[in-house]
Amino acid sequence: MTGEISTETDVLVVGSGVAGCATALSAAREGAEVLVVTKASRPEQTTSHWAQGGVATTRSDPDAFERDILDASAGTADPEAVEVLVEEARHAVEDVLVETLDVPFDRADVAEEADEADGADASAGGPDFDYGREAAHSESRILHVDASTGKHVLGPFLNYLDDHERVTIWEDTAALDLITREGRVHGAIVDGGRDDATDPEPVFAGATVLATGGIGALYGTSTNPETATGDGIAMAALAGVTVEDMAYVQFHPTAYSGEDPFLVSEAVRGEGAVLRNGEGERFMPDYHEDAELAPRDVVARAVADEREATGEVRLDVSPLDFAEAFPDLAAKCEERGVDWREGIPVEPSEHFLCGGIAVDDRSRTDLDRLFAVGECARTGVHGANRLASTSLLEGLVWGLRAGETAAGFSPERVEAPDLRDSDPDLPAGFAREKFARLRRVMDEYVGLRRTPEGLRRATAVLRRLKGEVDAYTRTRTSRSLYELRNASVVALLVAREATEAEPVGCHALADEAPETDDADPEEVDARATD
Ligand code: SIN
Repeated sequence: MTGEISTETDVLVVGSGVAGCATALSAAREGAEVLVVTKASRPEQTTSHWAQGGVATTRSDPDAFERDILDASAGTADPEAVEVLVEEARHAVEDVLVETLDVPFDRADVAEEADEADGADASAGGPDFDYGREAAHSESRILHVDASTGKHVLGPFLNYLDDHERVTIWEDTAALDLITREGRVHGAIVDGGRDDATDPEPVFAGATVLATGGIGALYGTSTNPETATGDGIAMAALAGVTVEDMAYVQFHPTAYSGEDPFLVSEAVRGEGAVLRNGEGERFMPDYHEDAELAPRDVVARAVADEREATGEVRLDVSPLDFAEAFPDLAAKCEERGVDWREGIPVEPSEHFLCGGIAVDDRSRTDLDRLFAVGECARTGVHGANRLASTSLLEGLVWGLRAGETAAGFSPERVEAPDLRDSDPDLPAGFAREKFARLRRVMDEYVGLRRTPEGLRRATAVLRRLKGEVDAYTRTRTSRSLYELRNASVVALLVAREATEAEPVGCHALADEAPETDDADPEEVDARATD
């Protein structure tokens, strides 16, 4: 193929976060023509743009980094996947983020940094970076740009790809379904695409890479943008691809709990901020020996407990020079009229799906020519609880590997399903109402706190909801409808897996029954519809 826009491409990448960009970059470096389709019309609509803390990288001791990842996951991460991540971290960061994209990572005072590294080979792009510390990391190893790292990585990445002769990006374009024939994926049906396209159209690809991010939109509060509707996971699951570890939904302990919430990066605790309950008491030392720097699932549950017991939790930033260290976060507080000197009110908020589409160490799924990268993929790196600042890194490392592997296939035209609007009788407001119901069920029963009985009920309600949505399954030209279809598939997967999964890491089960113990699923459904 040559560079013009076409409905054939060597590699089709669905999604434009860091993992999708890394895939596109490495496939193009291999000489492939790459088409990136993305629902986003602006970078802010991708989760990567919202990432705050940074990119963890290997510094003095790779073994320590591996241990930290395994410990944070309560021993559930896959050691081989973790080894790949840690071994390739430095090279991926140096090659792509530092040399190719020139990401303006914060710098430290050189003398101070040399003292701190104390003999460490800190050559990940030079010894003068200001390596940050976050929860459950045994050393400072996080490259960051203030607490807005995601946008400073993604902006240059998209600009670089925009200028690349072998990469085309279609914004505001959703992939609706995979095109599969005889156990092989041949691309996807996309909606949006070329300016003159009025109906969904097939894009035929030698290899198709899902990079669609997480599932934050399935919850009432999330640190993800509302585009995070689990699209890739749903498309893969509907095509029969293995999806794993869906029970492990990570909640971030510290999202601002007022109007217009935002993430308050773990890096703030890494710099010394402490959590105080409604009585002004610091409580984390009672929960874990690492106090505020305990694994994220532990801190999230402690914050939820203390909010319930004492009315609120605040992040006390007085131990650090907050405005100096985190100007972007200080500005966010001020925009919302929050005086951070009095502590920032925080609550847990859905943050990251540790599971997803099962992939191997080259990002291959179990369906031929289908790959998955980033949050929608389950590489095994995170197990039941992800270590802070490993998600951009995982997207980068597995994205580069996916691109290299996916570049070797040529597109083939096959018969594709026709997804034109086939049901004009869709009730007004259908998608909005069903989505709101789905969120209420997820918040109430499949959130940070779960009980066996609540999960059973949620599964029953979500199964019925999916059935209602499936009645319109061929009517997917409305973006809200196919997002609802995807969300209903994924919500059911999460609830169902959570009823069976081992309670570990971010999937904790309480014994007590929920308040509506004697209600049957019909009643719960009615409540969730209120
Ligand atoms: C944070 O900045 O706290 C989030 C970092 C992450 O989720 O990896």
